This record gives sequence, structure tokens and C-alpha cells, in this order.
Amino acid sequence: MLQHTPPMGWNTWNTFGLSINEQLILESAKTMIETGLCEAGYNYIVIDDGWQLPQRDENGRLVADPEKFPRGIRALADDLHAMGLKLGIYSCAGHLTCGGYPGSNSYEFEDAETFADWHIDFLKYDYCYKPQREPGDQLYLRMATALANCGRDILLSACSWGADDTALWIKSTGAHCWRSTVDINDSWESICRLAKEQKELQKYNGLGCFNDMDMLVVGMNGQGNVGLGGCSYIQYRTHFSLWAFLGSPLMIGCDIRSMTPETAAILKNRELIAINQDPAYRQPFSIGGSFNFECGDNAESFVWAKLLENGDFAIGCFNFSDSPRNMYFTLSDLSLARFCGRKLVMTDLWTGETCETVDARFMTKVDACDCRVYRAKIVKE
Ligand code: GLA
Repeated sequence: MLQHTPPMGWNTWNTFGLSINEQLILESAKTMIETGLCEAGYNYIVIDDGWQLPQRDENGRLVADPEKFPRGIRALADDLHAMGLKLGIYSCAGHLTCGGYPGSNSYEFEDAETFADWHIDFLKYDYCYKPQREPGDQLYLRMATALANCGRDILLSACSWGADDTALWIKSTGAHCWRSTVDINDSWESICRLAKEQKELQKYNGLGCFNDMDMLVVGMNGQGNVGLGGCSYIQYRTHFSLWAFLGSPLMIGCDIRSMTPETAAILKNRELIAINQDPAYRQPFSIGGSFNFECGDNAESFVWAKLLENGDFAIGCFNFSDSPRNMYFTLSDLSLARFCGRKLVMTDLWTGETCETVDARFMTKVDACDCRVYRAKIVKE
């Protein structure tokens, strides 16, 4: 299998849109190494839309815009590989990309070959300008087949935004991950919307074809292509925690060259990354309990748990409402028998503090837009 855990990296789109070039890629790659992001697990650099010339060449091949990428893509890929990084690129299942550049429809074999020639490791494959009569499952399968026959391991990151019930067919296409949501933007409203959408789609997640909740907006602070308004660091922390907890790819979208220490601390939280990259990749289950004494509405807050490979539980209490919530669970919510003689010793993955279940129960208060994520050890009482 090409990718046993969700891919991690950096993508140009959220901050730079179509204004990308070789220098940006090289500087960002250097930053990935120097800031320890690469060491923390972020190893893909993905060039999103806007790298192409508006026309194919006389042989029908895609051409990189020589003003943006004067040495071509292969030289860049080789530079990144020498730094221990991998290079991703972008194309589209329709006739045009979302930015209006040539798409790969009907050129799947040629383009897969081109990407292999360029030493590409990852293809983000979009869904704009899709011919109405060609079903999405066929278009993704077609590109996956071309990639599987191009002579190079290239990860296929499907990006059909959950359209046309993607969840129901994507697993048979050969995509390694699939965009389950609409495009994110740098606002708390967008994060809440994707969190709620994902709650229903989580059952379709699984090893081999990960649910992709879209790129991270952590640290954008309202700047750049999708920088609508920005979020507080608490909100960014909750966003990162949820994406990590649910096993989404972790693709950074801010300008890492100028990220603040707060942003770096969120993105490099090793304990959260370990939950995201847990080798067992089990799916979380709801342990329900959240309540608010004042209004009794728990629709926008949830507590989830998942069993990790080493026998610990990851437990996430997420509050997407605009008031503090009491979050609550019992050992029986985790399937443990009431008198099993065990308790949980829980480490808060943001503060490092520990706490325990008492009388087989646990309750904590979580502020508006905040979360608590714990790694819980099962210990004899
Ligand atoms: C779509 C995708 C985005 C980005 C743009 C590029 O909107 O969902 O992630 O790739 O296209 O044009």
C-alpha cells in the first residue's frame, strides 16, 4: 500500500491561489526542514492549480508555465527529493481545471506518464468541468488505472468535494484519499460546517482511502487566497485537533515562511500527530455525552473515542457551540464493564496535565470553540 497513514504536507492553494512559482516552492520546502515540520511528519509539498500553461504542447502534453517554473517541474521534484521531501501536483477530471487550465479528461494516460517523467509523488485530482455524461467513479478509476500503470508510485488524492455521493463509490476507484467536504475557508463558520458534515461521513473513512476534510487553515490569520476573516488560536487548535482526531490528511495551508510560534506549536503537536498517524487507523465512535445545563442542546458538541494500536484510548471533547459545555462520559460508554477494576489516567494533549476517571466517570467543562483531547491509559485501580 502506498500510504498506510493519512498524508501530511503543505499545499499552495489556501494562501497563494494561482500565484505560485518555483521560488515559493523552494523557500517553503526549506522552511519545512528548518522549522522541524518535516521531522514532525509533513513531507509532501503540493503544487495546486495554476502551474500549467493554458495550452498543451503539440504532442498533447501538459506544460509547466516557464515564467513560474523556469527549470520545469522535474528539476524541482529532484531538488525536493534531495531534501527528503516529496512533490505533489494538481490536475482535474474535467476538461479544464477549476482555475481554467487544461484538465486531464481523455488525457489520463499521457498525463500520468508526464507526472511519472517529472518524478511526481502525489496527484490532487479535482472535479471541475466534468462532462455531465461521464460518471465520477469512472473518471477517478480511469486516472487511478493510468497512475497504476505509469511506472511510478503516485498517490491519488481525489477532490470531488463529496459531490455525487462520492462516499458511495470512491473506494473502488483506487484513490488513496477523497475530499469529503466543500472547500474550507479561514473562518470559524467554515470549520464548524465541515465538522458537522464530517460527523455524518466518518463511517465511510478507512485505511487505504482516507476521508480528506480539506487543507488546514491554521495560522492563516485571515491572510491569502481563502483568508476570510481568520480565526483565534483556540479555534485553530480545535480545528487541528478535529482533523487529526478524525484521521484526515494534514495539509498545511498557511504561509509557513512567516508562521508565528503559536502556529508552529499547533502544527507540530506530536501527540496529536501520533493520534492522526496511529498505525491501527481505527475509526472513532461516539461516546455521546455532552450537555449544557442552560439550554440542553448538544447538537454542536460531541465526545468521541478511538482505540489506539497500543491499547490506549484517544478521547476528544469538541465544543462547536458558542457557550461552554459540560462534556461527560463513563467507562461503559467505552465498552468497559462497570466493575472492571480499571480507571483511565488521561493526559491532556494540549496542556500536558493529567486527570483520571473517578467512580468510572469523567466530566470536564469545555469553553466555546474549544476542545480537549486526551490520550487515556487503562490502569488497575
Ligand atoms: C477546487 C478545490 C480546491 C483548489 C481549487 C483550485 O476548488 O476544491 O482545493 O484545488 O479547486 O482551482
